[in-house]
Amino acid sequence: MTEDFNVKLVEDVKTYTPDPQYRKNAWMGDYQKAYSDFQKDPDGFWEKMAKELDWIKSWDKVKEWNYPYVRWFVNAKLNITANCLDRHVNDSRRNNVALIWRGEEGRERIFTYQKLLNQVAKFANGLKKIGVKKGDCVCIYMPLVPEQIIAMLACARIGAVHSVVFGGFGAAALNMRIQDAGAKVVITADITIRRGKAIQLKGIVDDAIVNAPSVEHVVVLRRREPMVDLHEKELDFYEMMEGLSDECPAEVMDAEDPFFILYTSGSTGKPKGIVHTCGGYMVGTYYTSKYIFDIKDNDTYWCTADPGWITGHSYIVYGPLAVGATVFISELTPDYPDAGSFWSLIEEQKITIFYTAPTAIRMFMKMGESWPNKYNLKSLRIIGSVGEPLNPEAFEWYYRVIGKSRTPILDTWWQTETGMHMITTMIGEPMRPGFAGKPIPGVEADVVDKDGNSVKPGTGGLLVVKSPWPSMMRTVYKDDERYRKYWYTINGMYAVGDLAVKGKDGYIMILGRADDIIIVAGHNIGTAEVESALVSHHAVAEAAVIGKPDTVKGNTIKAFVILRVGNQPSDKLKQDLLHHVRATLGPIAMPSEIEFVEKLPKTRSGKIMRRVLKAKEMGIDPGDISTLEE
Ligand code: WTA
Repeated sequence: MTEDFNVKLVEDVKTYTPDPQYRKNAWMGDYQKAYSDFQKDPDGFWEKMAKELDWIKSWDKVKEWNYPYVRWFVNAKLNITANCLDRHVNDSRRNNVALIWRGEEGRERIFTYQKLLNQVAKFANGLKKIGVKKGDCVCIYMPLVPEQIIAMLACARIGAVHSVVFGGFGAAALNMRIQDAGAKVVITADITIRRGKAIQLKGIVDDAIVNAPSVEHVVVLRRREPMVDLHEKELDFYEMMEGLSDECPAEVMDAEDPFFILYTSGSTGKPKGIVHTCGGYMVGTYYTSKYIFDIKDNDTYWCTADPGWITGHSYIVYGPLAVGATVFISELTPDYPDAGSFWSLIEEQKITIFYTAPTAIRMFMKMGESWPNKYNLKSLRIIGSVGEPLNPEAFEWYYRVIGKSRTPILDTWWQTETGMHMITTMIGEPMRPGFAGKPIPGVEADVVDKDGNSVKPGTGGLLVVKSPWPSMMRTVYKDDERYRKYWYTINGMYAVGDLAVKGKDGYIMILGRADDIIIVAGHNIGTAEVESALVSHHAVAEAAVIGKPDTVKGNTIKAFVILRVGNQPSDKLKQDLLHHVRATLGPIAMPSEIEFVEKLPKTRSGKIMRRVLKAKEMGIDPGDISTLEE
């Protein structure tokens, strides 16, 4: 980790205070009170939340903390889909809309809670028919269509562990994830639709399952006419459900049974399979959807993420459905059919809660306010942000142009590992651009020095969480050592890996990663992953990758490459390398710049000093270079 985090904060930011009605009407009520209630009785706080949900059997104990391992809702039994679906179907919400999907050219599909439950049960029965059992891993590699969510919920219904892989990953990245988790079934679609064009997905799966002996079946959602032919091992998504019952009993899950694996980039070449469990994850995402997003029955809620990321898992699928929300999703991109696409959808659907990423906000800024100004955005009540720091300029623009200087901005800090929101400015609390906010009730987060001492207001340090919370990851799949590292880097605390600054009144400003992860347009990319993809090309001897600040994407990737003898630098070779990274890791990990070099700065022990490359690239002082060789 970087040690030069001596940031001093000059705090002259404006404070925005939302209309008092927000706090008055919020589920949470008063933040200070809720936080002190939590501090007085942490387990009691979480127990109260858990009691709002349906359990098959209650817990013997709220929490068992055996550092660094935790069990929440000990011995309780549940099924999350019983809370996301049956709970609403069994009361007066049966005919409420659960899901509205919008595709291109005005196509729309609507699922009531009853209809969604029927589809989930049928598909779950289909999975059972092909031999999927509780504890088996199913890999879901799909576009943003309702079937993606149905597949996830169907796995949850029968206790299969899903590993959702974002559709923008390439064959090698998908293969690694299938192999690591030992997926028995892969669920995919023939194509994804991006900006009016069909993009092959199944072709990537075909490549990815070579050398993946665990895969017994591939289930294919065939969207295109005429339908693609299916081969051995392959089944059609809907044919698999034909003739099956639309009732499927929810599997009885222990609170600590594994629920899903979600891979996230790490500082090694191999992504980490973050493991979440059933009970705690359900309570954490339910609590935050209700009390942080303040979702009410008459809201139409839109999170623009893909369910393939944690944001989609927690805040498209499980959290909002657990509260019985109406969830809107769309396959449209923000720039297609034109730069007004998102705003036109907000007007069309009368979206009330909108959740997106800073990279999108900065792109909207660049496209100009005339686009949002063409549409009526009056329905918006709350607007949110996630994935990377929301810089003050983007905050101001979002607040003024989209929120009409009226709607609160929820800048939510959290991670794949945390499962749920951890830090934000609660609805009704004063907002300070640049600052995400404070730990939410239920979370004890702080900024500390490397010995774990709380830093003074106005100074920077490492962001940590000081006590366990229900929706925290339980381990890194097949790599528990890696899990332990999160809790042993700073003794007794969960080391987040982000640098942060503590402002006055406990407001926290997140500065960015302290390790070798680069956040590009909201996606975490490990430098090591891109480097090993480059080095796997026959012309490359060595590669080093850095993040370069970018006004829209947050960062872009620049790669420095040393060629093997016998290869000459050329534009054609650059294109080849880009193509190679794209095919291996996917378009999201493509460098935007490649520079051929003769040498890379290294420590005497042979470690590449990316910090030096970055300083040189940006024309700044590289800091301490005493360990540099020569
Ligand atoms: C960053 C996404 C600043 C941070 C939910 C974190 C943020 C990483 C914010 C996790 C925010 C996320 N402000 N930075 N509001 N939200 N981050 O696992 O560096 O994809 O560690 O989870 O994104 O990314 P992940």
